[in-house]
Amino acid sequence: MTTAGSGPLTLAFSPTESARFGLRVFRANLSAVDADALRAELESERVDVAILRIPARALGAVAALTKVGLQSIVADTLVHYSTALDRATLAVPKNALLRLRPAGDADTASIAAMARTIFADYISHYHANPLFAPDAIADGYAEWAARSVPANDEGRSAWIVELGGTAVGFSCIQICADRGEAHGVLNGILPAARGRGAYRDMLRATLIQHADAGIRRFVISTQVHNLVVQRVWADEGFRLDRAENTLHLSPLFGRERS
Ligand SMILES: CC(C)(COP(=O)(O)OP(=O)(O)OC[C@H]1O[C@@H](n2cnc3c(N)ncnc32)[C@H](O)[C@@H]1OP(=O)(O)O)[C@@H](O)C(=O)NCCC(=O)NCCS
Repeated sequence: MTTAGSGPLTLAFSPTESARFGLRVFRANLSAVDADALRAELESERVDVAILRIPARALGAVAALTKVGLQSIVADTLVHYSTALDRATLAVPKNALLRLRPAGDADTASIAAMARTIFADYISHYHANPLFAPDAIADGYAEWAARSVPANDEGRSAWIVELGGTAVGFSCIQICADRGEAHGVLNGILPAARGRGAYRDMLRATLIQHADAGIRRFVISTQVHNLVVQRVWADEGFRLDRAENTLHLSPLFGRERS
């Protein structure tokens, strides 16, 4: 932990969120919170919103922050699941017409449009905070998905989910080669195509594809309220590894933005 006013910075400036929301947004993943150091950093870095991820059991941080005069919003709970990729035990998609097509430059706009539609009603930690404009939240999903197109050297890629040649959704993946892992970053199925097994089949096809590529583990996360995907993950052999809370801290709470 840092001491107030000294040591390395805990918070990292988030340029994309700052530009999107017109605020100075910072982020940190912390195993424990030093409330005095954080308060000093919020002031010295002129932070509008700090988005912290802390282990779910570290809720005492909320009380510690309140004691030093920092109101926090507990904005959501993230749950992280994973499964070993053993090719012999992986289930195959039920619908033989389902395909995963790698997205290229020409697909950037369509992936962004799909993300905007798919996540239009999705509730995330941003919705807990009145400083984040709802329209800009939807734009964020579009930007986030588009950043994975085309596949790049850092292991990011995006895939169009097709049923009989028609795009019904997308899936963005991050490969962490040093750990032998693939991470599901962002994915979803268009509202008109939901309820017909496309998501479950997309997940099955994704697991098989990565097992075939020599990846040993698949990791995926969501908000705890997203029960549909967690039930699918449990059915497909995933295990709940850990949970963390997202806290928002802001000196702007309770007063007008300048
Ligand atoms: C969640 C989502 C991916 C599901 O896609 P889908 O193609 O409709 O899912 P599937 O048809 O494969 O259904 C999988 C299972 O969930 C069930 N299910 C799907 N939608 C459901 C709903 N709204 N309520 C309850 N159960 C639901 C299905 O009945 C099915 O169960 P079964 O296989 O036991 O019959 C889709 O609704 C979506 O894109 N939502 C918004 C974005 C999102 O949540 N992305 C995932 C972020 S990690």
